[in-house]
Amino acid sequence: MPVSVTFDANLAEHHTFGVSVCSRALVVVDSVDSLARCYRNEEWQSLPKLVVGGGSNLLFTEDFNGLVILNRIKERTVSESSGCFRLHLGAGEGWHEVVAWSLEQGMPGLENLALIPGTVGAAPVQNIGAYGVELADFCEYVDYWDCELGKVVRLPAAECHFGYRESIFKGALKGRAVVVAVGLALPKAWSPKLGYGPLAQLGEEAAPSAIFEAVCQIRSSKLPDPEQLGNAGSFFKNPVIDAVLFERIQRSHPEIPSYPAGPGEMKVPAGWLIDQAGLKGYQVGDAAVHTEQALVLVNRDKATAEEITTLARHVVATVEARYGIELEPEVRILDGQGGAGW
Ligand code: EPU
Repeated sequence: MPVSVTFDANLAEHHTFGVSVCSRALVVVDSVDSLARCYRNEEWQSLPKLVVGGGSNLLFTEDFNGLVILNRIKERTVSESSGCFRLHLGAGEGWHEVVAWSLEQGMPGLENLALIPGTVGAAPVQNIGAYGVELADFCEYVDYWDCELGKVVRLPAAECHFGYRESIFKGALKGRAVVVAVGLALPKAWSPKLGYGPLAQLGEEAAPSAIFEAVCQIRSSKLPDPEQLGNAGSFFKNPVIDAVLFERIQRSHPEIPSYPAGPGEMKVPAGWLIDQAGLKGYQVGDAAVHTEQALVLVNRDKATAEEITTLARHVVATVEARYGIELEPEVRILDGQGGAGW
């Protein structure tokens, strides 16, 4: 049996935006077997199902008319070859805890990805990334429960279609795959990744632990702690725009930050666009644009989902009117059936 079942469960503490919404039922699973039972249970067959890890990239727009499955499958297995450490990690492990533990065990590599909220299972879905490193750099495979085949399938990283905050789990396998474990390979020949501005000051001699500390410090200074201020990290993706449009904006704003994104395209920080549009601190009810990092929308106290989506639409419309760029949410916004609520 699943570990526990709660009916009419309040989801406020199971997602980091902290909005008060309910699900018809909530179960906690700690093994592939208990996950499989949720999908095989005849009574639950017709219910929409939503698997939640840390709930750090979700916004519910209304009560969820189905079964929320909290994935708490834990495992940390290490094997070693001459060239690398191989980690097999259960999807319910906390991502940051795994990063800290891997460093303590003398297996560097993940330090730039410190303090990213959420669980291991969510990491490949949006190919988490920060400070010049992304999950895809280390991922060897993803094990997922295939809801159609009713069994666990191992997908090699090359078939996961990783991109910027993208993967096959948001595409062809959306709604069909539940990540149960992730395999990482951390090369023993470690070198620091210091390309991101503030990390460059550490110098090439920096130890992995110093990078870890610096990343934690940078993130804590800009990004609100969901325990204190509800949020889901970056609310929007950094848009990739046509080089012609980029040059037009650059003529009036020579200071615009940018990253090359492919032939004829540039990626620009959504946070900068929102900030320049004068929206830092802009509020709709209890929902606000974060004052330290405009890419993050926060729940100041008792924000409703409607206040957050109204604020998000205002941000999109303002940036579009000013720059001709349409921002896309990075956060998964859900309606009551688990479909797209945006
Ligand atoms: N900026 C502003 N004002 C703001 C925010 C940013 O001018 O209010 C400017 C900054 O000065 C900087 C540029 O925009 O020049 C980029 O800002 P930052 O370095 O803070 O990174 P970001 O592009 O806003 C992305 C990721 C973050 C990740 C950081 C560091 C996305 C959507 N977000 O943010 O990821 O931590 O880079 O690598 O790609 C997340 O996904 O939840 C997340 C926090």
